[in-house]
Amino acid sequence: MLVVMKILAIVYILRLIWAMEIAPERHEVEYINKKYLKNLSVVFRKFSRNSPLYVSMELESLVGVGDNMTLKMALYEYLAGHYIPTPLNVAYTFCDFLYHEPFFGQMYAKQFPENWTCPFPAGEYHFVNMTIHLENFPYTIPFTYSSMIVRTRADVQGFFTHTNEEVFRWKTFIKITQKMNPKDVKKNKAVKHNINKELALI
Ligand SMILES: *[C@@H]1O[C@H](CO)[C@@H](O)[C@H](O)[C@H]1NC(C)=O
Ligand SMILES: *[C@@H]1O[C@H](CO)[C@@H](O)[C@H](O)[C@H]1NC(C)=O
Ligand SMILES: *[C@@H]1O[C@H](CO)[C@@H](O)[C@H](O)[C@H]1NC(C)=O
Ligand SMILES: *[C@@H]1O[C@H](CO)[C@@H](O)[C@H](O)[C@H]1NC(C)=O
Repeated sequence: MLVVMKILAIVYILRLIWAMEIAPERHEVEYINKKYLKNLSVVFRKFSRNSPLYVSMELESLVGVGDNMTLKMALYEYLAGHYIPTPLNVAYTFCDFLYHEPFFGQMYAKQFPENWTCPFPAGEYHFVNMTIHLENFPYTIPFTYSSMIVRTRADVQGFFTHTNEEVFRWKTFIKITQKMNPKDVKKNKAVKHNINKELALI
């Protein structure tokens, strides 16, 4: 019963929310395994107030990496002094993510140098000035919706699938602002559609 009530509350509130502004604010590389990565830097940047958000990812890898590495991504919501897990928690093998994940995977893959293939050989990589497009963020995030501004943290971790050995771990702090726009009927339909998907997962 409690579960049902919670779902109804989420649906009710989501109906009012028509758009999200997703703004990555801060980034921390927490761990790199020096056996495999010489260095790794991820920097978010805006060049002016209204410029798109850019991300630059630079690294030097001492080993090749393909589907033998798994990426784990988990989203946390800041609530009453703690980051608590949301249901958004996914794992992809590395190449599968770049070739097949329809939103983030494709967003990055499209901006890599044209001739890339996965697995990647060992070497230095400079993916500079990739733009981040979050306007059509396709996933419903079932927050508790305690307020219109939700502070979140996305943890991304890479590890070798067969040994479970960690390769890197980073955290991105993201501010999500819910916006209401009663005129946008089309988006409302999209949101409702996503709710159904989310409920199917529960
Ligand atoms: C990583 O190390 C390489 C080789 O020493 C260096 O050229 C590169 O600038 C470093 N990259 C970062 C992001 O620190
Ligand atoms: C992972 O796969 C890549 C590409 O196939 C290979 O070069 C690398 O040695 C493998 N790494 C490990 C730790 O198995
Ligand atoms: C991709 O093309 C660039 C520039 O033409 C070249 O320097 C690089 O070695 C190529 N990479 C691969 C994996 O073929
Ligand atoms: C990244 O974009 C900024 C703003 O357009 C530009 O000033 C800078 O030179 C670019 N960096 C690279 C390496 O392309």
